[in-house]
Amino acid sequence: MADVIGERWRGKWAIVTGASAGIGKAIVEELASAGTPLVLVARRAQRLNAIAESLSNADGVQAEACPADLAEPDAPRQIFEFTQQRGLRIDLLVNNAGLNRYSEFHAIDLAAQLAMVQVHCHAVLHLTHLFWTGMVERRSGDILIVSSVSAFPPGPYTATYAATKGFDLLLAEGLAEEVARYGVRASALCPGATESEMYESTGAPKADTKEFQSAKEVARRGREGLAMGKHCVIPAGPRGLTATPIACCRERRSAELSSIPTGRLI
Ligand SMILES: NC(=O)c1ccc[n+]([C@@H]2O[C@H](COP(=O)([O-])OP(=O)(O)OC[C@H]3O[C@@H](n4cnc5c(N)ncnc54)[C@H](OP(=O)(O)O)[C@@H]3O)[C@@H](O)[C@H]2O)c1
Repeated sequence: MADVIGERWRGKWAIVTGASAGIGKAIVEELASAGTPLVLVARRAQRLNAIAESLSNADGVQAEACPADLAEPDAPRQIFEFTQQRGLRIDLLVNNAGLNRYSEFHAIDLAAQLAMVQVHCHAVLHLTHLFWTGMVERRSGDILIVSSVSAFPPGPYTATYAATKGFDLLLAEGLAEEVARYGVRASALCPGATESEMYESTGAPKADTKEFQSAKEVARRGREGLAMGKHCVIPAGPRGLTATPIACCRERRSAELSSIPTGRLI
C-alpha cells in the first residue's frame, strides 16, 4: 500500500494553493519527496521562489512559482492560463489556501470575511471547475480540498470560517460520489488544530500548542487518504484535541442522513 501511495503522483504535475506556509508547504514537501513536479501558488512570491529552489535542490523535482492573490476573482483563470502556457498537464489539484479570524461576527472586519468566502469558496470552485473538466475527459486526476473539523459543529466566533469550510467539505464529498465512475477522485481533508502560521493571525485566545498536530502529519494523512480513495479524512485521530466531538457530529449526521437517498433533488 505504501508503494501505491508513494507512486501515485510520481512524475505527474500537481498544483498546490497556499504553498508558502503551514499545511500547504508540508503537502508540497511530501509530494516533492515522492517525485511530483509542482506549481506553487500563494501571494508571497519570494517565499514561493525559495521553496521552489529548495525542492529542486533537495528532491530534484521541477517546481514553478505562480504568485497569485486568490481573493481576486480572476486569479483562478490566470493560474489556469499559467499552466496552459507552459503545457503542464495537472493531475493533482490541492485547494489549500486559507485564512481565519476569531471574534464576534460584527467585530470581524467585513473585508476579511468576504476574503474567506472568496478564497475558500469562489476560488476553490473556480479552480476545481477549470482543472476538473480535463481530468474527467482524460478519466484520470485527483482533487484534494482542505476543509476543517470546523465544518462539522456550529462555529461561534468563527461562523463565516466554519460556513466556508462546510462548503468545502460538501463540495469535495459530492464530487467524490459523482465522478467515481470516471476514475477521478476528490477528497476533503479536515484537519483539527495544526501547527502553522494561521493560529497567530486569527486573534484567538492563546491555545496549548502541545495539543496541535504537525503540518507534516496532516499532509501525510491527506495524501494517503486521497490515494486510498477516501472521500473525507479527519487526520486528528483519536488523540487529537477535537477528534472526539467531531467524530460524534459526523456519526450523528450520517445516522440522520442514512435514510435519505443520495443523487436526488430534495
Ligand atoms: N492550522 C489549523 O489549525 C487548520 C485547521 C483546519 C483547517 N486548516 C486549513 O488548512 C489550510 C492551510 O492553513 P494553514 O493552517 O497551513 O495556514 P497558514 O500557515 O497561515 O497558511 C495559509 C496559506 O494560504 C495562503 N493564502 C492565504 N490567503 C491567500 C490568498 N488571498 N491568496 C493566495 N494564497 C493565500 C498563504 O500564503 P500567502 O500569505 O503567501 O498568500 C499560506 O500559504 C487552510 O485552508 C485552513 O483553513 C487549518
